[in-house]
Amino acid sequence: MSWLIGRMVRFITLVLVLLTSSAVSSTTSRISLVSTTIFDVLRYGAKGNGKTDDSQAFIKAWQAACRSTPNARSILNIPGKRTYLLKPVAFNGPCKPSKIFVQVSGNIVGSPKKIDWMSNHSDSWLLFSAVNGLTVSGNGRIDGLGPMWWKNPCIATPPPGVTCHAPVALQFKRCNGLRLNGLTHVNSPRVHITMTACNGVIVSNLHIIAPETSPNTDGINIASSTNINIRDSIIATGDDCIAISGGSSNIKISGIMCGPGHGISIGSLGHGGNDVVENVDVRNCTMKKTLMGVRIKTYQGGVGYAKKISFTGIKFDAVYNPIIIDQYYCDTDQQSCLTSKLAVKLSDITYRGIIGTSSMDNVINLSCSKTVACTNIVMDSVYITSAIPGRKVYGSCINAHGRASHVKPYLSCLKP
Ligand SMILES: *[C@@H]1O[C@H](CO)[C@@H](O)[C@H](O)[C@H]1NC(C)=O
Ligand SMILES: *[C@@H]1O[C@H](CO)[C@@H](O)[C@H](O)[C@H]1NC(C)=O
Ligand SMILES: *[C@@H]1O[C@H](CO)[C@@H](O)[C@H](O)[C@H]1NC(C)=O
Repeated sequence: MSWLIGRMVRFITLVLVLLTSSAVSSTTSRISLVSTTIFDVLRYGAKGNGKTDDSQAFIKAWQAACRSTPNARSILNIPGKRTYLLKPVAFNGPCKPSKIFVQVSGNIVGSPKKIDWMSNHSDSWLLFSAVNGLTVSGNGRIDGLGPMWWKNPCIATPPPGVTCHAPVALQFKRCNGLRLNGLTHVNSPRVHITMTACNGVIVSNLHIIAPETSPNTDGINIASSTNINIRDSIIATGDDCIAISGGSSNIKISGIMCGPGHGISIGSLGHGGNDVVENVDVRNCTMKKTLMGVRIKTYQGGVGYAKKISFTGIKFDAVYNPIIIDQYYCDTDQQSCLTSKLAVKLSDITYRGIIGTSSMDNVINLSCSKTVACTNIVMDSVYITSAIPGRKVYGSCINAHGRASHVKPYLSCLKP
């Protein structure tokens, strides 16, 4: 009996020792985890005078930050009250620290000489690739010197038949756990911000500004990405405020002030290959004087689907085409304008709690493929009137099916 008690006491003591030691070791490891090192671009030779090329200093500071202590934190600091001129820069990972913060307090501008924009990552100016745990934040400003690109998107004279694309200002590829907040992005050559193949992203409190007339200056593009949350941002631009393209799912967008611009778009989908978009929730957004409000656009001849898409709590103020499904989208490429029996299948699309005005008469236009119907479209509490007092508005449909309640104007294609 006493032998048994002795064993039990020894066993309990052992458990206590183990518990205590594991508690101690986890506290110490937590303390050592937060070790943070700051890499200041000025210490790596940046001048920040807006004239000297600071690209090499940024690359050196980035490499030091990226190659520093595993599991620690690095801060790449870009001090304020200065302007840094950058040629195209690739901030490549993978990096050793589990968290990298890029603190942008100063302003970043491109080179005024187009030839300086030649690079091996030609479709973007500032590229982050394969960096996990990256945060880019601060009250700095990124200026892509758009006006010189909008007139002519080429760097040099292209060979005959080749179309030029101006660079994207800020591109994230394969950056999981990305946080992007606080910055002002102005006058991108083309799209302001793209994320491709990123998972688990939060974008907030951005201010994106380009003129209404600037070509292809989308605010934010999401491609092949999952679990993306974009909120509380102001986007005024010449093209889509936010565009979601193929391979994207679990996208939440809220608190966006959009205008001018082309609204919030899903697509264009189905241009060569199989496009899939799923679980998109757009809510509490305001569109002011935009060309489109909320739009789903697909090409003829595409394959794939877009489903479980909802637009909730949207306000329109003098929007041209407030609600539009366009399965006949085509651009300059003639091939994409031919009619086809194939189409991207659209289903489970909900419009709820939408009010506002339009500067056009056709305010709801559901133009689905003639061969592949749109199914389970739900409209509930949607009221759109004309921005011009006394003028009547109407809606139209092609092969769109679903239900409507409390919807004005009346849509003959949706059942009560
Ligand atoms: C592109 O990469 C090659 C080989 O790495 C290098 O020699 C060249 O300088 C780079 N060009 C530009 C414009 O960065
Ligand atoms: C809606 O968005 C606005 C910004 O456009 C924000 O101020 C407000 O808090 C948001 N409301 C909700 C309920 O999310
Ligand atoms: C609806 O949209 C389709 C596709 O863009 C377009 O061809 C058609 O003219 C629009 N309908 C009206 C009545 O504006």
